[in-house]
Amino acid sequence: MESLRMVDLQGQYLAIKEEIDDALQRVISQSAFIRGPEVAAFEKELSEYLEGAFVVSVGNGTDALQIAMMAIGVGEGDEVITPSFTFIATAEAAALLGARPVFADIDPDTFNLNPACIEELITERTKAIVPVHLFGQSCEMDDLMEIAKRHGIAVIEDAAQGIGATYKGTRAGCIGDCGTLSFFPSKNLGAYGDGGAIVTHNPDLAERVRLVANHGSRKKYRNEIIGVNSRLDGMQAAILRVKLRYLEQYNTRRRQAADVYDELLSGCEGIERPFRSPEGTHVFHQYTIRVTESRGNARDTLSQKLSENNIPHALYYPVPLHRLPVFSDAANGARWGSMAQTEKAAREVLSLPMHTELTMSQQRFIVETILVFAQEQE
Ligand SMILES: Cc1ncc(COP(=O)(O)O)c(C=O)c1O
Repeated sequence: MESLRMVDLQGQYLAIKEEIDDALQRVISQSAFIRGPEVAAFEKELSEYLEGAFVVSVGNGTDALQIAMMAIGVGEGDEVITPSFTFIATAEAAALLGARPVFADIDPDTFNLNPACIEELITERTKAIVPVHLFGQSCEMDDLMEIAKRHGIAVIEDAAQGIGATYKGTRAGCIGDCGTLSFFPSKNLGAYGDGGAIVTHNPDLAERVRLVANHGSRKKYRNEIIGVNSRLDGMQAAILRVKLRYLEQYNTRRRQAADVYDELLSGCEGIERPFRSPEGTHVFHQYTIRVTESRGNARDTLSQKLSENNIPHALYYPVPLHRLPVFSDAANGARWGSMAQTEKAAREVLSLPMHTELTMSQQRFIVETILVFAQEQE
């Protein structure tokens, strides 16, 4: 069998090699390595994909979060509500700006921020709510937007894992005040290096984001505010232009692979398959199962068994942010409410290989090992 990988970037490249090689050659011929026509064309094409939103490309998804927060005015003493069951970037960006990360619990079905857990955490210092569309599924945005509007709080959607996902027909990242994207190579739309973007339907916010991302300057040597230097380079933009044309196909392929896992795992005792909200389209950045802990620490036993069989897998995320030394004991000003669902998820989740090149025989092989594990647990 072809070697199993968590993500198969090489296989994906080989399938579109000619187009990628041509695009890279074009950038080299133009010597337009920073900004330039490829970056402008990528921003325009991504804007078309995202229902006409303004797109400002930046260096990576973490920068995108920090720049979005700076543009919205998050600063010293403010509070930013975000999940604890996620990658650190959201809380990190808030802390870097002197704001206090405030962690809210998740919905056990979607693993996303639970709107019902947000309201009790709001204070007069709450400046932004940052929901994360984790694993490729949109958060329950209607309730969240209603709460944010009622309290006059900005919403920055972290759509790093959710590009292409929809919620009630709207693309993830295009519902709140703005959204942020990451083009890290393994993302659904991945560059061959770092990349990110901020998207918004608000022209004033788009202008402010562009200002912040470009040293606080609209005009060279006429800096207006303290900003940062964060930009997508020409090579990455040229690659992303090619891959954007395949994004819908890639996301469909991921959903098909998820269907296969769902079918093969159906009825498997002790394994819960990913929930798919009827409100939107899941783009399966990850296929994350729950190994229910009713029989002790079964998740870690399965993880060991998969490793023994050379089956790549990952634990996203084994330590909730509020348990990390940088935030626990209220370090960096962090605070949080009840974290029961977050803690449980961190003990139970396990992500299986998921990418556009995954084959049926690979998936069968992976699931066979899981079925043997489930039998051994009985
Ligand atoms: C949810 C989430 N937010 C933010 C980021 C940060 O993106 P980047 O690695 O491009 O800085 C990532 C991933 O890496 C992510 O998964």
